[in-house]
Amino acid sequence: ATKIQIAIDGPAGSGKSTIAKIIASKFNYIYVDTGAMYRAVTLFAKLNQIAFEDEDRIAELVSTIALTFVPADPVQRVILDGRDVTSDIRSEEITNNVSLVSSYAKVREEMTERQRQMSENASVVMDGRDIGTTVLPKAQIKIFLVASVDERARRRFKENQAKGMSTSLDDLKQEIIARDYKDSHRLISPLKKASDAIEIDTSHLSIDQVVEKISQIIKTRA
Ligand code: C5P
Repeated sequence: ATKIQIAIDGPAGSGKSTIAKIIASKFNYIYVDTGAMYRAVTLFAKLNQIAFEDEDRIAELVSTIALTFVPADPVQRVILDGRDVTSDIRSEEITNNVSLVSSYAKVREEMTERQRQMSENASVVMDGRDIGTTVLPKAQIKIFLVASVDERARRRFKENQAKGMSTSLDDLKQEIIARDYKDSHRLISPLKKASDAIEIDTSHLSIDQVVEKISQIIKTRA
């Protein structure tokens, strides 16, 4: 069978990972959360007492970072140098510094290479910011998910509440705006809709409705 590549890009909180996970399990494809990879690199810096601003040192070490995904329910586990960092990579400190670390050329080069390797032998659903534009430019299906800032902040707020994190709705909104700005304005492969991507505004759609739309697209194109 031919290998299918599905790229799902979009800004923070647009629903990418929720949707990508469901699509992957529905079609039995491998799910690759590229945001988790950049978060893990950011956490690596912290755990090794390297300042997030220290591009040279991070660039020097990024190829030595052991990073694996272990399938598990309900979320796949992220293992960094032998340690389960699945929840640590979602902390506020990592979230607020990941855009800086992910802007480094060497970091992007290394992660892009690893992401391409993961799609070599299997069909994948990959979510991120630059999958359709840079990582998998030949993906058969490219989806660009968007939603209003208010809706995205509300979703993050609910997710955080469920995890016992208590950032205010307004702080979350400011964090999302700041991260979107940095991710769309960086020099190398910024967040951008690929010219051949299908844009879906999820502001007023349920998860099921988005999954249904994308499933229809896969069935007609893949
Ligand atoms: O998807 P998530 O919000 O976990 O991504 C965290 C951060 O990782 C983004 O804000 C962005 O800075 C970076 N990222 C990236 N390229 C990707 C995926 C994520 O630069 N393909």
